[in-house]
Amino acid sequence: MTLTHDTIRAVRWRDGGLELLDQRKLPAEEIWLRLEEAGATAEAIRAMVVRGAPAIGITAAFGVVLAARQRFADSPGDWRQALEVDFERLAQSRPTAVNLFWALDRMRRRLADLDGDPFPTLLAEAQAIHDEDIAANRRMGELGAALIESGSSVLTHCNTGSLATGGYGTALGVIRSAWSAGKLKEVYADETRPWLQGSRLTAWELVKDRIPVRVQADGAAAWLMAQGKVDWVIVGSDRIAANGDVANKIGTYSTAVLARHHGVKFMVAAPISTVDPDMPSGAGIPIETRDPDEILSLGGQRVGAVGADAWNPVFDVTPAELVDAIVTEKGVVERPNREKMLRLLEV
Ligand code: MRU
Repeated sequence: MTLTHDTIRAVRWRDGGLELLDQRKLPAEEIWLRLEEAGATAEAIRAMVVRGAPAIGITAAFGVVLAARQRFADSPGDWRQALEVDFERLAQSRPTAVNLFWALDRMRRRLADLDGDPFPTLLAEAQAIHDEDIAANRRMGELGAALIESGSSVLTHCNTGSLATGGYGTALGVIRSAWSAGKLKEVYADETRPWLQGSRLTAWELVKDRIPVRVQADGAAAWLMAQGKVDWVIVGSDRIAANGDVANKIGTYSTAVLARHHGVKFMVAAPISTVDPDMPSGAGIPIETRDPDEILSLGGQRVGAVGADAWNPVFDVTPAELVDAIVTEKGVVERPNREKMLRLLEV
């Protein structure tokens, strides 16, 4: 385990129930929450107990398992109909990460040819989604690390690690692999206002997995690049449109603009389940807006001037032309565009 700097998991199925490491409490406390039904699972996703596109999808898949067990027990005759409410509830939990809808579709397809108790088949499907995600992350780690020259330094934004996925991570998986290969000099993490996924979660993961990290204020990225301190920005994604536009945590777009200005390379690592072939461009991607209080308060303490309002879009879209490489488990697309993305999807 130590060799690959990979010791953390945040979603697990244990003793017949779903358990989530409560990411709202990290890094101060490591608390596991146990969920027994789909409504609570949808609420956990909405409230960010679990977050990160692939982890949201995996959690929703286990939510379907919990729901089907309950519905079948309550009414073995017409459980399918009743399950629709649970699908809808899970689908409403967060709008931007397409992995959520991808996972729900996959569970729905598995349901189609089921007879009798759906629980064992659906549990196996959810576990397969989880395992495949970890395998995809490992592969992306290899492919992404291969693009990085020895002695490079990198900047990452948000949290894209074991906490945001089934395990290992997308962008953070690339960083883990590049670190394990001895290629990295320094890892910088944007603190990622307002939810602090960088300083709370990415830094916690890297410290725990023995990879040195420096956290910086999001606004320091331009100055970091101007000083020639990083060679790559490496980020994940919540949804990649068919033309290669990339939705990711708010602030990603600014790092991409800055990277291009300073001659720094920009890499997006995401599993193929993050690519939305039905979304022609980034312009149509639904961007979640959350409670203004997330901007105006820190740690539950109001810091913004009383009477001020706030705008809190939590994702933005980076145009494909600012991306140097999209790394998926199916291969790497350099300088993405519609044709190249289509070829990737056909692999
Ligand atoms: O609001 P969050 O924390 O769910 O946002 C997460 C991100 O933006 C990640 O960068 C993205 O989901 C990719 S995670 C592998």
